[in-house]
Amino acid sequence: MRVAKAGVVGAGTMGAAIAEVLAFNGIEVVLKDVDAATVEKGLARVRAIVDELVRFQEGRAPKELERITELTGELSDAQRAKVTAKLGAKFTRARGDEVVGRVHGVTEYSAFHDVDLVIEAVFEREDVKRPVLEALDAVLPEYAVLGSNTSSLSITRLARGLRHVRETLVVHFFNPPYTLPLVEVAGGVDTREDVITDTIDFLQGLKNHRYPLVPIRVKESPAFVVNRLLAPVLAEACAALESGLASSRDIDSAMKAGAGMPMGPFELADLVGLDVSLEVAETLFREFGDPKYRPSIVLRRLVDAGHLGRKTGQGFYEYTDR
Ligand code: 3HC
Repeated sequence: MRVAKAGVVGAGTMGAAIAEVLAFNGIEVVLKDVDAATVEKGLARVRAIVDELVRFQEGRAPKELERITELTGELSDAQRAKVTAKLGAKFTRARGDEVVGRVHGVTEYSAFHDVDLVIEAVFEREDVKRPVLEALDAVLPEYAVLGSNTSSLSITRLARGLRHVRETLVVHFFNPPYTLPLVEVAGGVDTREDVITDTIDFLQGLKNHRYPLVPIRVKESPAFVVNRLLAPVLAEACAALESGLASSRDIDSAMKAGAGMPMGPFELADLVGLDVSLEVAETLFREFGDPKYRPSIVLRRLVDAGHLGRKTGQGFYEYTDR
């Protein structure tokens, strides 16, 4: 599968970051959202992700020099040059500008007429995703692969009746995709086998800022692997909070210090978005009917209040650094 040009629909947290990963791998990307202001926000997000990598790369050598100097005293010029050569920025500002330059913001579906692959990353609801897939289906070239970044919905239902039904599949990235390498790939009932295997091969050839991507094949099943396991963890964390077992901070600390999680369940839910977390829990509960997936009241109330986590500045915690 050759992807010279790709498309992403939805310039939110995930869409912008997926567009960045594709552009980071040398692919031209059209990034669409409903209006110019939303698209601009997405492009600003792409720039911020790239800036973070440039800053990290440029800071590596000076940080290491400072660390060694503190430990051993002043270094000679030759020693400093050696450290700088080894840790000097490989991803420069110029390369960062190239990545940003490959992402083209659009508001019309017509821009997708010549893409090889498109990934939709719009809100996690069937009545939002389905019209997007229909609009894409109408303009995509026959050969294009249509990926959905759904975290929990049925791809068979989403793709039903599309001209591209056999080329439609789940391509599910994790937040943040420029750091986390996993991509869950799942075909629906009608997806062509070669579309699934070619997409996995294509993803295997990509890198994010830290690792080669790790695509895994999963069966079409509500929430696939990661969310199916994470949702009950969040539900149990909410139940523990509601029962007064410990504060949210302490529950998060416990899961970091005692279970090796990089983030506690509440911090993670705030990162993922509480609306997304609620949708995932609702889908699991609806599909399996098992009470272990029942969305907690505290999660529902926060979503009702519009406190969706980091993206709105408030969720289980407050954020001032948005
Ligand atoms: N390359 C290498 N190292 C880098 C780097 C780069 N590009 N950028 C930063 N680093 C270094 C930093 O300098 C820092 O080093 P230091 O500790 O020596 O100073 C170190 O990496 C740690 O950096 P951060 O403090 O920024 O932390 P990380 O970036 O390592 O981790 C995180 C952040 C990835 C968010 C991590 O906390 C994590 O993995 N959290 C869990 C997230 C998760 O589970 N997401 C999935 C949710 S489910 C989902 O998305 C599905 C959806 O459908 C709901």
